[in-house]
Amino acid sequence: MISEEKLELLWKDLLHKQEERTRKSKAVFERAKKVLPAGVTYHTRFFSPYPVYVERAKGSRVWDVDGNEYIDLWMGHGTHILGHLPDVVLDSMKEIAGVGTHLGFENPYAVEYAELLTKVVPNVEMVRFSNSGTEANMYVVRLVRAYTGRKHLIKIEGGWHGGYDVLHTGVTPPFTGPDSAGLPEETIMYTISVPYNDLSALEGALRRYPAAAIILEPVLGAGGCIEPVEGYLKGVRELADKYGALLVLDEVITGFRLSPGGGQEYFNVDADLVVMGKIVGGGYPGAGAFGGRSEIMEMLDHLKRPDPRSRPFHGGTFTGNPVSMIAGMAMVSYLHKNRGLYERAKETWEWAKREIEGICEEHDRACWTTGTATMLGVHFTRIRPRNVREAYELRWSRRAEQALHLYSRLRGILYMSEKMPHFLPSLVHTQEEAKATVDAVREFLSLLR
Ligand SMILES: Cc1ncc(COP(=O)(O)O)c(C=O)c1O
Repeated sequence: MISEEKLELLWKDLLHKQEERTRKSKAVFERAKKVLPAGVTYHTRFFSPYPVYVERAKGSRVWDVDGNEYIDLWMGHGTHILGHLPDVVLDSMKEIAGVGTHLGFENPYAVEYAELLTKVVPNVEMVRFSNSGTEANMYVVRLVRAYTGRKHLIKIEGGWHGGYDVLHTGVTPPFTGPDSAGLPEETIMYTISVPYNDLSALEGALRRYPAAAIILEPVLGAGGCIEPVEGYLKGVRELADKYGALLVLDEVITGFRLSPGGGQEYFNVDADLVVMGKIVGGGYPGAGAFGGRSEIMEMLDHLKRPDPRSRPFHGGTFTGNPVSMIAGMAMVSYLHKNRGLYERAKETWEWAKREIEGICEEHDRACWTTGTATMLGVHFTRIRPRNVREAYELRWSRRAEQALHLYSRLRGILYMSEKMPHFLPSLVHTQEEAKATVDAVREFLSLLR
């Protein structure tokens, strides 16, 4: 039997060991707290009792300020699909010295990259670039509203599309109201959240509200790395068509990760608009794009729509800068030409998923796995969660998740988050690294018996 008493004892012991091993991180944390709220630049990067401060990275590994080495299963929030600092991208950056970092004018690199994306990403005939996934979603919301003349948006509970007001609801329990202070209710009055993997809830919402778009991640990312059940995405597509809503796939995580063409290619589903981020910037800051059918994207064309009020705005100082364009292009063309990498990574991490699932079963069914390919979630729930609500509500212990995170850190494995484990390995992580991940879960659970 898993003992919750043992879990508490283990937790205390792990905290003690962690403090011994990360004295320098602790000192940085003390300094950081004075100048950064909570000592962090993004709350999600905090773990108990304080974050490890990472000072460098290469390939599948990162090193903290104490010199501890970790297998990185977070990879820059899922950005580094070829590992940290891949040669193919670094080599492309040599060009920048002769180009400039930010031209502030239209440039041929953005054109070439847009051409490449229309070849690699299904249903993308035209593209616009932005500086983050949040920004790309923000402009997509304007676009779908302008195109359809409708205001309502349907999103998925647990779906994370960044901190843009209109989409910052239905992310965490209780999945209603604004998910942040400082967000008036009015900003989300046209946003409806429905459970993932539930076509009847989606149809109910579509019947009640004339929706401009359904916005969803093909596989929930921050919402627990949960994959679609058989037929779900096809059903979503059909419902979008039936009710005249556009289907926006937020592929900020799944894009170029599940396959070069993202979730659309992997699950054989067609989107009207695709949101990209993370990998699309080749590992450099400023990663975002959205694209889709010309007929929709041309709403942004100021030559066809000279009156600014007749078109949805899109722009920004750094859009289409050569650093993001050249790095992103190097990355995406490499992925496009090396499709075999995806097969190998899928085999490796689906093996890890099966192994962890077996371990969970052996240990009183303490946990369940979710996800697909290089997206893997572990849930300490009573049943396998099919959506984020189940992942939160059926969890038997928050401590188990926190303790697994701390235990893994002590074994040299870093992932996100201590609230809901999800692993986003790159295509270059090895079978040995997958095995180390599996072994950590096995040994952690055996300590709780
Ligand atoms: C699916 C999804 N969409 C949008 C975003 C927001 O992207 P960014 O953090 O680049 O603004 C994220 C970030 O994690 C994401 O996972």
